[in-house]
Parts: sequence; C-alpha cells; structure tokens
Amino acid sequence: MPYRILVLNGPNLGALGQRQPEIYGSEGLDAIPGLVHELLGENAARLEFFQSNHEGALIDRLEQARREGVDGVAFNAGALTHSSLALADCLAWIGLPCVEVHVSNVFARTEDPIRQRSFMAKHCLGVVSGFGLSSYALAVQALVFHLNRQHS
Ligand code: DQA
Repeated sequence: MPYRILVLNGPNLGALGQRQPEIYGSEGLDAIPGLVHELLGENAARLEFFQSNHEGALIDRLEQARREGVDGVAFNAGALTHSSLALADCLAWIGLPCVEVHVSNVFARTEDPIRQRSFMAKHCLGVVSGFGLSSYALAVQALVFHLNRQHS
C-alpha cells in the first residue's frame, strides 16, 4: 500500500505560478504530482492536497489527517512558518511525521531575516527549501524514506 501523504499549503501558495515568479517560479501547485511521480515513480505515495489562506483551516486539516491515519505531511505554511505558534502547537501534539517545505531558499533571503526563523522546524523531521516546486517532491521522498525505515 502506498503511503498517504498530505501536501499542505498555507497562505498565498494557491497563487504560485502568478505570484512573484522571479522568486517562486512560474509553475502552480498543480505541477506537484508530476514532479513526485518523476522522482519517486507512480506508486510510492498517495498524495492528498489542501491549501488555505486561513490558519485555523490548516489546523483543522492537520487534525483531520491525524484522525484519518495519514502517514506524513509535506507542509509549506508560507508566512505562517515565521509567526504561527498555533500551527507549531498543532504539529507538537498530532504526532505525524512532517517535513517543512519552502519553494524559495528562505535562508538566502537575507533582505528578510525573519524568513530564516521557523516556529515549525523543531516539530518537523527536517526542512526542504530552495528547490522551487521540486522542494515538495523532495519532501515527499524524505517522508517515504523515513516511513520505510520505520516499518523495516
Ligand atoms: C515560502 C517562504 C515564506 O517566507 C513566504 O512567506 C511564502 C512562501 C516559500 O515557499 O518559499 O509565502 O514559504
């Protein structure tokens, strides 16, 4: 059975492809399944997608993922990464393996040092940042690798 992976996106990420393409590129979220299949093949993961501009809706979706037995989460919380104690609190208790994702390399965006701070990272397996939309595929790969090792 392929792992169930939730690809979760926060504020302004529904606009990927149109939003500041010089930073975030010209592809939208709909490019992610193709990139995951290119990296991992068709059957490594069953992806579920959710995007919201609202913090509470993201928390509701994470709680739902826990109830439903989702195996892992690839989570780009957008700007909420740098500000949301509520999302961090949710990740702290739900017990789902999570990888923090960023399209841009937040650590290289030194003009905006706040982007180097993450409330979520301490509750995540790790962070994938700076590979464009491929960051999502790399995060799914990291989750599958982690889950395989857990189950072996
Ligand atoms: C982002 C980086 C954040 O700093 C920013 O607020 C975003 C997108 C990224 O994917 O590079 O909305 O998470």
